[in-house]
Amino acid sequence: MKGIILAGGSGTRLFPITIAVSKQLLPVYDKPMIYYPLSVLMLAGIREILFITTPHDQEAFKKLLGNGSHVGCKFEFAVQEQPNGLAEAFIIGEEFIGKEKVALVLGDNIFYGNGFGSLLRSKVDVNGAAIFAYPVKDPERYGVVEFDSEYKAISIEEKPEKPKSKFAVPGLYFYDNSVVEYAKNVKPSDRGELEISTINQMYLDEGNLEVGVMTRGMAWFDTGTVESLDDATEFIRVIQNRQSAMIGCIEEVAYIHKFIGFDKIEDAIFKYGKSNYGEYLRSLI
Ligand code: DAU
Repeated sequence: MKGIILAGGSGTRLFPITIAVSKQLLPVYDKPMIYYPLSVLMLAGIREILFITTPHDQEAFKKLLGNGSHVGCKFEFAVQEQPNGLAEAFIIGEEFIGKEKVALVLGDNIFYGNGFGSLLRSKVDVNGAAIFAYPVKDPERYGVVEFDSEYKAISIEEKPEKPKSKFAVPGLYFYDNSVVEYAKNVKPSDRGELEISTINQMYLDEGNLEVGVMTRGMAWFDTGTVESLDDATEFIRVIQNRQSAMIGCIEEVAYIHKFIGFDKIEDAIFKYGKSNYGEYLRSLI
C-alpha cells in the first residue's frame, strides 16, 4: 500500500500564523505537525509516501523530510496549485499510486491510542474503503457518518448544518485502487471543493465502505484552529512528559518496525543535537 499526506491548503483559520509558514510545519509541542501523520502511515507499515503541498511550501518540506532514506522510506513530493479539495489528492497522485491501494492522511490530523498500530495494519489490504468514525461535540465541522441501529453506515455528509449523528470522520482513509477513478468523477460541492466525503459516499453506495468506530481510548485532533492546535500541543506535552515516551518520533517508529538499523539512529542523534528530540533518541539507546 502507498501513502499520501495532504499538506496543502491555505490555513486561513490560523492567520496570521500561516501567512508565511505552512500550517503542517508549525510546531505541535516539540516537533513539526507533519511528523504525526507521517508516523501514522509508517506505523501502518507504509514506506512509499507522497507529500502534497502548495507550490510555495514544497521546498521547506523537502528540506525537512528529504528523500526518506533516513527513516527507511521513499518520499516523493507533488504540488496542488489551488486548495481544490481533498479528493484531488488521488488525481494529483494517480501516477504515484499506480496499481496499488492507497492510504490518505491529512497533514493536520493527530492520532494517539492504545492498539492504534495494529488497527492501522489491519486496514492496509482493504477491499473497497475503510474509514473511521469518532464521536465529537461539534460534528458540523466535519464529515459526518450516520449509522443505523446496528452501527451500519447509511450516509456520509460533509459539514452538515444539522448533523445526523455525533460521529465525525477523522482524516485517515484507506482505499483500494478504484479511488483514482472515483476521484475523477467527484463534482465540486457548494463550497467549491472536491470532497472526500463524496468519495466515501460513492463507496458506501456500492456497499464497499467499512466504518470503524474509534472508541474512548483513542485521541484524535484536527489542528485546523488556534484552539485545537493548542489542545493538541498540550495533549502531546502532558502524555510525553508523564510517560517519557515520544508521540510521532519517526526514527523510533522506523527502528521498531525494522525500516532502519541502529546506524541511522546514531545519525539522527547527531542531526537533532541537543534538542528534546535528540535527547529522546539518545535516551533510547
Ligand atoms: O479533519 C477531518 C476532516 O477533514 C473531515 O472530517 C472532513 O470530512 C474533511 O473534509 C476535512 O475537513 P476540514 O474542513 O478539516 O478540511 P481542511 O480544509 O481543514 O483540510 C484538511 C487538511 O488538508 C489541511 O491540512 C489542509 C489540507 N488541504 C485541504 C484542502 C481543502 C489540502 O492540502 N488541499 C486542499 O485542497
